Amino acid sequence: MKHRILIINGPNLNLLGRREPAVYGSETLDEILDRLDAAFPDVELDRYQSNSEGEIIDRLHGAGFDRSYAGIVLNAGAYTHTSLAIADAIAAIDLPVVEVHLSNIFAREEIRRRSLIAAVCSGSISGFGAKSYELAVRSLL
Ligand code: DQA
Repeated sequence: MKHRILIINGPNLNLLGRREPAVYGSETLDEILDRLDAAFPDVELDRYQSNSEGEIIDRLHGAGFDRSYAGIVLNAGAYTHTSLAIADAIAAIDLPVVEVHLSNIFAREEIRRRSLIAAVCSGSISGFGAKSYELAVRSLL
């Protein structure tokens, strides 16, 4: 059976390609995820993007108790630095969740250097642009 992984992207990541290209690159989210699909033809990669904290939490709950997933790749955007509720949702589910960031959050402003979700994720990958997603998927296989 094909491995199935859920890729969750949080707030403002729908604007990739147009949003601060010097920081996040010029590819759109769909272009990044299409390339990810092409890199992992044997893996079923489901995509979800939301700008809303509650919707991200609902999706984590849904996937967390859906036995068909091998894991979740999560770019929580700015909620990474602020959302105890998303951290609690990750802690509440049994699935491994890998934290990803396009930019190197540790090389950025002070507030971005702190991740509230890192401690409840199985690992964190930050700073490799679109390749961060590829490394995260690979870590779940
Ligand atoms: C980000 C880093 C966050 O600090 C920021 O709020 C984002 C994107 C990244 O992928 O580099 O929205 O998660």
